[in-house]
Amino acid sequence: MALSRGSVRVGMRIIRSPRLMAEWSDRLGREGVRVGLVPTMGALHAGHASLIRRARLTCDAVVVSLYVNPRQFGRREDLARYPRRLRADATLCRQEGVDVLFSPRDDAMYPPGFATSVSVPPLSRRWEGQFRLSHFEGVATIVTKLLCLIRPDDVFFGRKDYQQSVVVRRLVGDLALRTRVVVCPTVREPDGLAVSSRNEYLSPRQRQAALTLNRALRAGLSAVRQGVKQAKQIHQAMVGAVRHEPLARVDYFAVADPDTLEPLTRVTGPAILLGAIRVGTVRLIDNLAVRAPRLRQGSGGQARRR
Ligand code: PAJ
Repeated sequence: MALSRGSVRVGMRIIRSPRLMAEWSDRLGREGVRVGLVPTMGALHAGHASLIRRARLTCDAVVVSLYVNPRQFGRREDLARYPRRLRADATLCRQEGVDVLFSPRDDAMYPPGFATSVSVPPLSRRWEGQFRLSHFEGVATIVTKLLCLIRPDDVFFGRKDYQQSVVVRRLVGDLALRTRVVVCPTVREPDGLAVSSRNEYLSPRQRQAALTLNRALRAGLSAVRQGVKQAKQIHQAMVGAVRHEPLARVDYFAVADPDTLEPLTRVTGPAILLGAIRVGTVRLIDNLAVRAPRLRQGSGGQARRR
């Protein structure tokens, strides 16, 4: 909902100054308006739009932050290549009824002398963290800064970046920030590929290869559904699904605890399957939540696997 004054719809504001952003949300907070924040790095697509829509369902005013955070890019990752299209992003936000697009400049977010960083080591080191060394420290720092500045009632993240959502939940809890973290489902193309701004770098043949990531996770899911409990076997099912695709290189597949992200040896309850592959220079990540099937009583009174 764009904030309305009587029957007059007030258009979207673009705010670049952190001070003005804080003043705006403080004022709304005092008026009892429920503020939702959707943090993004721009190049907005259907995945981002789904978070905005979700925010509009539960909040009176929606802020989308658009900031390509240099601190979460590794030295070998191409920060300069990250797509920047403020005009198209502003159009999408306007269409989705966003109230404020917060698009700060680098020197406003990291002024000279900026020296603080937020890290959540046990959750950040694994999986993505092994391939992107200070990535989550960069994410945790910028998300903390956005939450302190805007102090939203709710903040919205996509399940697509599962590890990121776990890191954020942890830091919000540990630092007693007064924001509710809402994690929303992954938006996919009809063929299963998770929507991502990186998909546009794929040629048609590479895009086909990229599909193996979701297929691999589904192979893991079906192993779990068939009653396979050994994480090693589930892992093999996932890796096996990519093996025959010459364009795909596996970074990792994991069978992990959904809260701690620690690797599991056996799946006896809820688990998260995580995966990352590279196709050409494009790195893709995805995940699927799974749960070990409940044991049913067989006809002879014995527990049997479904
Ligand atoms: P960005 O990659 O722009 O993603 C912004 C949000 O959109 C994240 O919460 C991400 O999980 C979500 N998202 C991306 N693709 C999605 C999809 N297909 N379905 C559902 N949600 C999706 O993630 C970041 O930016 C940054 O790390 C950020 C949190 C903004 C900190 O800089």
